[in-house]
Amino acid sequence: MCGIVGYIGDKQAQPILLNALSKLEYRGYDSCGIAIANKSIEVFKDAVRVKALARTLESHEGRIGIGHTRWATHGEPSKINAHPHCDCSGKIAVVHNGTINNFARLREQLTAEGHTLASETDTEVIPHLIEKYYDGDFEKAVEKAVGDLEGAYTMIALMVGEPRLIAARKDSPLIIGVGDRENFFASDVPALLDYTSRVIYLEDGDIAVVTASDVKVRQNGKVIDREVHKITWSMEDAQKGGYEHFMLKEIHEQPRVIRDTLTEYISAEEPAADLAGAGAGSLENMVILACGTSYHAGLVGKSIIEDLVNVPVRVEHADEFSLSGRSLAGHQAIVITQSGETLDVLKAIKRLKANGNRVIAVTNVVGSSVTRASDKTLYTRAGPEICVAATKTFIGQLIALYWLALPYAGVDAARLDELVMELRQLPVKVQQILDNEAEIAALAKKLAAFDNVFYVGKGINYPVALEGALKLKEISYIHAEGYAAGELKHGPFALLGEKTPVVAVVTQDNTYEPIITSIKEIKARRSPVFALTNEDDNVMPDLADYVITVPRVDPLFSPVVNIVVLQLLAYFVAKERGCPIDFPRNLAKTVTVE
Ligand code: M6R
Repeated sequence: MCGIVGYIGDKQAQPILLNALSKLEYRGYDSCGIAIANKSIEVFKDAVRVKALARTLESHEGRIGIGHTRWATHGEPSKINAHPHCDCSGKIAVVHNGTINNFARLREQLTAEGHTLASETDTEVIPHLIEKYYDGDFEKAVEKAVGDLEGAYTMIALMVGEPRLIAARKDSPLIIGVGDRENFFASDVPALLDYTSRVIYLEDGDIAVVTASDVKVRQNGKVIDREVHKITWSMEDAQKGGYEHFMLKEIHEQPRVIRDTLTEYISAEEPAADLAGAGAGSLENMVILACGTSYHAGLVGKSIIEDLVNVPVRVEHADEFSLSGRSLAGHQAIVITQSGETLDVLKAIKRLKANGNRVIAVTNVVGSSVTRASDKTLYTRAGPEICVAATKTFIGQLIALYWLALPYAGVDAARLDELVMELRQLPVKVQQILDNEAEIAALAKKLAAFDNVFYVGKGINYPVALEGALKLKEISYIHAEGYAAGELKHGPFALLGEKTPVVAVVTQDNTYEPIITSIKEIKARRSPVFALTNEDDNVMPDLADYVITVPRVDPLFSPVVNIVVLQLLAYFVAKERGCPIDFPRNLAKTVTVE
């Protein structure tokens, strides 16, 4: 999704803007640009990668500038549609993240008033509105322009002769990096870590006026103090650390993520007591809302809570819920989002809060929008996740959900202790899988030859099949579908055959016998079967074409180990097919549009 940056200080802006933009590439984009103010504004932009833009640029003087990576919404990726956009005089430049719902009407009005807009974007109305309202006071003009906008309009504006950047935040993230005789804006922390670790998280409705030595934030016309946070993770954490791809690095971080997320919740001395003492309100009438991978974590969460607590749990796509107009009166809501900025989730929270629901957020990003919009936040301690495909944050979400459910489990103390011990063993079990990745890579070579794949699982591992299929399609571009194993015979069987393999998640729990039956039916349709099985399974090696052994864990925790195998499988298939694993086409890391 679009990334925006801004710089004002005593250094040359150009290299800083380009470097900061390169750190936002993980968000996904199709074009980029920068504007630098000196005696005039110079804009350099194109539908190219940041590196390619940098290669074409000579060095341009200027200690104040803005930059943008664009993920096209209004108009195709092209030079003219790339940001920054300027007004008629070329004295005002703007970068923007979000979508302006009333842009067509504003554009019509501006055109009637004599403004010439060149691009197809919604953004371009902003510099023209600022130009329209400018009567010598830049700040007032920006405020008036913002007042005309409907929708999501996080933006930074720059004007010739004005030694300041003015920004507004609405429905997309924006942070200020506080430096020494210099200040920064960015959509996300990694863009700033080379320069500062002190950041201010802006909130919806904030207007920030930033000079090289001063930061002023206003909300509804009043100046307010926003806390300066110290970022505790480093650029190193956000880099590849010797791995070929961020995805592989992030998969390998999962034992650490499980440990860190557990440490967040469990005291080493008395795990069971600590769990029992950690309250989250009533678990009855629960609804989980999320998107994509986080939605799959929500489906696993449903099984966890239903198995342990014996209460029914609804899980809905955040977007579908927002649109439905339904009220979930009396429900305890859990929203799951790694970024904490997904617009569909934020809209769902708005509706829930309007209906008086209590909202617990599970997120990975401290200070993100959901943390402010929710009543309580459970953090996952995954650290920055750069690869567009979510891996370690999914594991972190599962651990948070186990923690949420365990204190309410209808089991005796001995069983609770046993479960906590098992939870603590998970890093070791995951490490065993990572140590065995060469075996998975070898099977991936075979799977990479196919164009369509089904993934099947049952019970708590049905969402694991969904997530495994999502991982494969996202990064390898192979068409993959996840199914509950018993559902294949109700239609998808028509597609089975030698050219359509099935990846089956087979766990030794109460789903074992029925899934063996399903696999026999699949084999009878000649589909090659790649099976995930436990070490002591002596049926699957004869039944499946290819077997990947997975360490045995309590069935409740089997999603944690099984998904690691499927993440690695997707990774090695995508690598075999030469795909751009970390930044797949058309996708964005943080989806801040509808
Ligand atoms: O940041 P969120 O967890 O709210 O993001 C939700 C989805 O956009 C995200 O999980 C997406 O599906 C990932 N690309 C999956 O790998």
